[in-house]
Amino acid sequence: MSIPELFERAARLAHEYRARVGSIPVAPRASMAALRASLGGALTEAGSSEGDTLDLLARAAEPGLLNTVSPRFFGFVIGASAPMGVAADFLTSAWGQNAGLYATSPALAVAEETAARWVLELLGLPPTSSVGFVTGCQMANFTALASARHALLHAAGWDVEEHGLFGAPPVHVVISEEAHVTIPRALRLLGMGQGRVIRVPSDAQGRMRADALEQTLGGLQGPTLVCAQAGNVNTGAVDDLDRIASLCAGRAWLHVDGAFGLWAAASPRLSHLVHGVARADSWATDAHKWLNAPYDSGLVIVKHPAAHKAAMTTDAAYLVKERLSGPGAVSGGTGHEGDSAPPRDAVDWVPEFSRRARGFAVWAQLRTLGRTGVASLVDRCCALASRMAQGLAREAGAEILNDVVLNQVLARFTPASGGDTDAFTREVIARTQREGTCWLGGSVWKGKAVMRVSVSGHATTEEDIDRSVRAIASCAKA
Ligand SMILES: Cc1ncc(COP(=O)(O)O)c(C=O)c1O
Repeated sequence: MSIPELFERAARLAHEYRARVGSIPVAPRASMAALRASLGGALTEAGSSEGDTLDLLARAAEPGLLNTVSPRFFGFVIGASAPMGVAADFLTSAWGQNAGLYATSPALAVAEETAARWVLELLGLPPTSSVGFVTGCQMANFTALASARHALLHAAGWDVEEHGLFGAPPVHVVISEEAHVTIPRALRLLGMGQGRVIRVPSDAQGRMRADALEQTLGGLQGPTLVCAQAGNVNTGAVDDLDRIASLCAGRAWLHVDGAFGLWAAASPRLSHLVHGVARADSWATDAHKWLNAPYDSGLVIVKHPAAHKAAMTTDAAYLVKERLSGPGAVSGGTGHEGDSAPPRDAVDWVPEFSRRARGFAVWAQLRTLGRTGVASLVDRCCALASRMAQGLAREAGAEILNDVVLNQVLARFTPASGGDTDAFTREVIARTQREGTCWLGGSVWKGKAVMRVSVSGHATTEEDIDRSVRAIASCAKA
């Protein structure tokens, strides 16, 4: 098969899948045994033809896909890989770029520099911040906390990159009891320990209690790191960032995990929710969630480029790195200085060495959507989440447990005949997943089993919400 035939066949298979994804069940249909039978087997000596391999991949994988790009997929917080980002990703794969250095992909370095500048503008964050394009918010949190670790210990006279944490001055780490699991995991990977953190209680919506933080900080002296959150993974609630920033000012590094909630800043209607966010020292977010860039795509943003770079950079004689001429400031790699900005080497801003040129898809998504497009994507998802909450309360008799401030809904179902509400809620989730009209998951909120709905896809319409409400209602009544 020629290269044009192979690539055109892949594109045709991709668009045929997208054309039917709204009408096939959202849940995977194949069993693990069936997938092992179709995708397993021994590695052959002679290999197979490209056309045969591509067709088998498409045919065998599709029944085992969770159809996250369906307009009625409401699980986890998964963006629906918008077509523009996917098309840019086709090209990215075809170009085969290694994004580590300016020298290995000048075009990618400039596309990331531009996308980084656009992201800072959209989110209202300081334009001199540095930005790294990582796999997701887990690695964004990791990179931001590594930058914090560097800055706090550097200020205490300790070179953590050189000497590690053995014998280092202790760093107090304060997180909310509702911090996403990727925060303790990042701390663990950084040698800071997930068990020695101080956990601050949260309120009924999952927001860190600022009064409790104030009390905690009052009892601490020395290097301190505080992790706040924009967008609780269950409720969507945002911590009182302005007040928290005031408490941290001059005494702690403030990091904000805003995997999806940070995008509220891009919406004039919702930006009040993240008021004060620009006062933090670092931020972690995703492009593969609300921006609907294809997986994987996370963003780490640090107000202090020198700390970010010191924590991440590496060098070797064979690397053709763009060395800054002369001493002085570290540019954040966002090109905000204009034509005089030094070229960007991605290896300075992320933990990876070789890496995918994922910035092309982010650039393409942002260029296509523009400011208004991003704001309306965020607004639309939030309006649809409210519609879902109202529909579930009215038609399915659900109790809604959260204030629907963003795109997250928590619903709980009581059996008409009385009985175990936790068990019935889980049963309604399982029935809904099996029924196939839509897909959503479960969680536990304040000790209660809940159905968890996240509206994060660009293609979801009011009709999709209404159809899903009817399907869930019939599962709750069955
Ligand atoms: C608040 C929060 N932080 C971090 C993450 C982890 O993001 P990722 O899966 O992109 O690593 C999530 C994922 O849902 C999240 O909601």
